[in-house]
Amino acid sequence: MSFVFGVGRVAAAAAIVSCLGFTLVQAATPQITTQVKSRQDKLRDMGGALKAITDDLKKPKVDWDNVIIPNAQTIKDRSAYLLNWFPKGTGPETGVKTYALPAIWQKTADFERIGKAAQAEAIKLDQVANSRNQDALKAQAVALGKACKACHDDFRSKDYEKENEE
Ligand code: HEC
Repeated sequence: MSFVFGVGRVAAAAAIVSCLGFTLVQAATPQITTQVKSRQDKLRDMGGALKAITDDLKKPKVDWDNVIIPNAQTIKDRSAYLLNWFPKGTGPETGVKTYALPAIWQKTADFERIGKAAQAEAIKLDQVANSRNQDALKAQAVALGKACKACHDDFRSKDYEKENEE
């Protein structure tokens, strides 16, 4: 009797677990996938904007109105929200394709400090763009690139470089 009871309990527990697993996956995946995809899109926009600026800087005279100022604005605006794009539960443990490393949620203070430093560099880039000083712009684009890289070095998977060769 106790044997039958034991089996029954195990079966019931297994049913509850598989049922929970099923509903959790069903409920969470589409939302998390959207969240991750949306942050990757916005990060890619920032990457594209910074590249547009550094490419333009290779020319003897940059195009302030059509290239530099609008792209600097994009980077400043996007980076202001950067730290909101990584809520807990949107890391690789979800099974969603992401280059975000678990370290983001383990060393949150470091992540936020580096994020805020990048935001400050993005604000400066926008100011320099509006000052229309090409030498200052060149220096600030380098400074910002370093600030982006500082975060990628610690918090973005190296698979990103492997899978997305420039
Ligand atoms: C505070 C950390 C942090 C800062 C600062 C940061 N990034 Fe990232 N970035 C990440 C993480 C984490 C990912 C991976 C996101 C993912 O895959 O879910 C990423 C991904 C990217 C991607 C790849 C998007 C894709 O999937 O195609 C680009 C491009 C990018 N970042 C550009 C930039 C640029 C440009 C800057 C600076 C203006 C910057 N990032 C600043 C953390 C950061």
